[in-house]
Amino acid sequence: MPAPIFLCVLGVVAAVSQANILDTAKASGCAKLVSIIEDAGLTSALANSPCATLFAPSDAAIAAIPADVYSMLSSNRTLLQEVLKFHALPSKTMAADLQNDQLLATFSSGTKLRTNIYNGGKVVTAQGSRVIKADLPASNGVVHVIDRLIYPVPALNLPLVLTFDKDLSSLGYLLYQANLISNFSEQSFTVFAPNNPAIAKIPGQEYNDLLMNFTELTSVLSLHVVRGTVFSAGLTDGQKVKSLQGGTLDIHVSTDGVTVNGAKVLQTDLSATNGVIYVIDTLLFPPKMMTSGKTFMAPINVFECKVHKNKRRVDHVLAVTCLQQPAVTPLGSGMGSCPTLLRSATLSSQLSLHDSNCQCDTPSVLVIKQQRPSSMPTAKLTKGLAITP
Ligand SMILES: *[C@@H]1O[C@H](CO)[C@@H](O)[C@H](O)[C@H]1NC(C)=O
Ligand SMILES: *[C@@H]1O[C@H](CO)[C@@H](O)[C@H](O)[C@H]1NC(C)=O
Ligand SMILES: *[C@@H]1O[C@H](CO)[C@@H](O)[C@H](O)[C@H]1NC(C)=O
Repeated sequence: MPAPIFLCVLGVVAAVSQANILDTAKASGCAKLVSIIEDAGLTSALANSPCATLFAPSDAAIAAIPADVYSMLSSNRTLLQEVLKFHALPSKTMAADLQNDQLLATFSSGTKLRTNIYNGGKVVTAQGSRVIKADLPASNGVVHVIDRLIYPVPALNLPLVLTFDKDLSSLGYLLYQANLISNFSEQSFTVFAPNNPAIAKIPGQEYNDLLMNFTELTSVLSLHVVRGTVFSAGLTDGQKVKSLQGGTLDIHVSTDGVTVNGAKVLQTDLSATNGVIYVIDTLLFPPKMMTSGKTFMAPINVFECKVHKNKRRVDHVLAVTCLQQPAVTPLGSGMGSCPTLLRSATLSSQLSLHDSNCQCDTPSVLVIKQQRPSSMPTAKLTKGLAITP
């Protein structure tokens, strides 16, 4: 028996299905896409292609296209054609044949489409869009329905996206200063990218120290990068990913969104040619051992913890992740279940602190016994947080 992948090449297609990929897409909840393909003048190119795979955004996915993107696509036929062609491969590929971080040629001439396999094969994505119906047979190939239009078509590599994106250019500048541009120009990476406001909120002296210390800067930046491409469809709550720096990134996924080591993810799945970017609101620091004789912890990340009592929001406090090694003497104490997490100053036990709805029995104020080091991000330590030197 010939492998299914060859069926359309061998011309025994009629036995499989009479419907071409567009007919199949139309009959499988993708009628809107088929009509857009028609408007773009691509119907015959796709319907008559001898062998094709179509990643077809569902009608719901088309309806969810943001208005500004939709109007840009409607008013620029070249762009629309480019985007649509990026959804089709000139080969027949069943879902089971797709590999993780595989790059596949599309009908569009430039960038290749990236497929990923997550959760032991349960999640398959095409440039981050999740396959929700796989392997729908067609006379000239196969259709996989996806949950989101792939847009924009990635055109730049990671350092270039970071450099030219007006919200991320500060990180691009730091990568340049650390001489890391070429390191992240190839292969596949996931970057958790602090946006410009996140970098702007680092106190001036601390920022200067960071810029002056090449080792430290490299270490801090490498903490934000993970080998391999993890689109948001591949993230799970409680997941721990190892950064290039060596430190662990704790991922927390809830209905409120995604956090990484307590930093809030503001935008997911920003594609580059060699990976994916998540925009985050805070620069992360690697865990540091305390220097002898000093009683402070630094650096720290601060974020908000809503306190609930009898399911009613009663107060909120600022919670603190102590980026400390487990061996360091615990520095924090307090009431309720949020603060107790401070006592065990391990990275892993802080995970539930990242829960923006962590339950505290009583409205609590976190009390941190510490001296405030000059390098501490003082701007972040504000209301709701008592500090006793
Ligand atoms: C239309 O899209 C193409 C391809 O992305 C681009 O090169 C061109 O500048 C766009 N035209 C207009 C008028 O925006
Ligand atoms: C970046 O690339 C250079 C040259 O290959 C290498 O020496 C260096 O160790 C890399 N740095 C990191 C942080 O991976
Ligand atoms: C630079 O940073 C490294 C690593 O964090 C640290 O060990 C070193 O003391 C720093 N150097 C200076 C000159 O501050």
